Order: sequence, then structure tokens, then C-alpha cells
Amino acid sequence: MRFRKAEENDVAQVARVLAKSYNMDSEAEAAMAFRRELRQEKNFVVAEEGDAVVGVASWQMHDLPKHMLAELHRIAVMPEYRGNGVARGLFDFLLEDCNAFYKQNGVCLRKMFLLTHNSNARAQRFYEKLGFSFEAKLPSHYYDREDEIVYSMFPEKKGRAADA
Ligand SMILES: CC(C)(COP(=O)(O)OP(=O)(O)OC[C@H]1O[C@@H](n2cnc3c(N)ncnc32)[C@H](O)[C@@H]1OP(=O)(O)O)[C@@H](O)C(=O)NCCC(=O)NCCS
Repeated sequence: MRFRKAEENDVAQVARVLAKSYNMDSEAEAAMAFRRELRQEKNFVVAEEGDAVVGVASWQMHDLPKHMLAELHRIAVMPEYRGNGVARGLFDFLLEDCNAFYKQNGVCLRKMFLLTHNSNARAQRFYEKLGFSFEAKLPSHYYDREDEIVYSMFPEKKGRAADA
């Protein structure tokens, strides 16, 4: 398994993974989402097996570099590849990418957060395994009948403790 940053011309393969994993009606909708999110400065990474993209994740800086705040926006693995550590590998690679960005700006990533559907218990167990904790509930956020859960982690605190 190889992890790398995504490029715009990965669109067809990224769309395939997104369409299988998110509430998207088609690969065309997923392709539009990927292109839009690249324009919004979301940073995509992919997991590749041979020539096939089998997992995708993205992160975004929030507000200013000095806030040291990033969102884990997407993470998805093709169904047949789940349960093999692909998402954990993607997340580790994404964190390196994110840390490198903040380091270039003279700071460290302080907080990473994400939103997940209240009904997506599987994703919540997965995020807890990665070290995220429940932070808040956002009622009727993306849909009238579905709350969002905010999960977060403070990776820099671990670094500070290690430096102390
Ligand atoms: C969530 C998702 C990305 C996990 O991908 P994955 O490749 O199967 O995850 P991994 O195999 O890397 O698992 C990493 C850890 O999480 C745990 N984990 C993963 N899925 C889990 C589940 N459903 N229940 C409990 N633990 C789970 C694994 O046991 C593993 O722990 P370990 O390293 O201690 O053994 C994948 O299920 C997916 O694509 N789901 C659909 C898209 C989605 O819901 N994305 C999140 C949107 S908010």
C-alpha cells in the first residue's frame, strides 16, 4: 500500500471511492465534490494498491495558520479494503502532511476536529481508535433529522508533554 498526495487528475478514482462511501448519488456528483473541495483548498491524500486508489482522506486549515486548527474533512476506504489498516495509514500520512504545512508556517498543529453523523457509529468507533474524543453535538446540522457529532484531538499537547 502506498500513500501520497492526490492530484487533480486522480478525479475519476477519487470519485469512485467517495461515491461508494458518502451520501453521493453518482460518481459524477463525487467528481464535482472533489474538484470543488480542491478549489476550497482542501488537501487530499490517497492510498494506492498497484495503480488503484482504494482510500481517500482530506484535511483543511481553518481560519489562519496561527490558529493551528485543522479539520479532518473526509476519510473513506473502498468496502473490500476496509478492516486492514488502510484508513489508519491514510490518517498517519495526512497528519504528516498537515504537520508539514504548519511547520512551514512556523507553528505546530494544535487541534484537529471533524464532524460525523450521529448515526455513523462505526465511524465514531474508528475515530476513537485514532485518538479523537467526543466534543459536542450539532443538532440538525446537514440534515433536519440528523445531528452531527464533533470529535477532536490535540496532537500538539502530546508533543509538548514529550518536550517537557
Ligand atoms: C471508517 C473507515 C474509513 C475505516 O476504514 P478502515 O480502513 O476499515 O479502518 P482501519 O482498518 O484502518 O481501522 C483503524 C482502527 O479503527 C478500528 N475500526 C475501524 N472500523 C471500525 C468499526 N467499524 N468498529 C470498530 N472499530 C473500527 C480498527 O479496528 C482499527 O483499530 P486497530 O488499529 O486498533 O486495530 C471505513 O469504514 C469507511 O470508509 N467507511 C465509510 C466512510 C465513512 O463513514 N467515513 C467517515 C465519515 S465521517
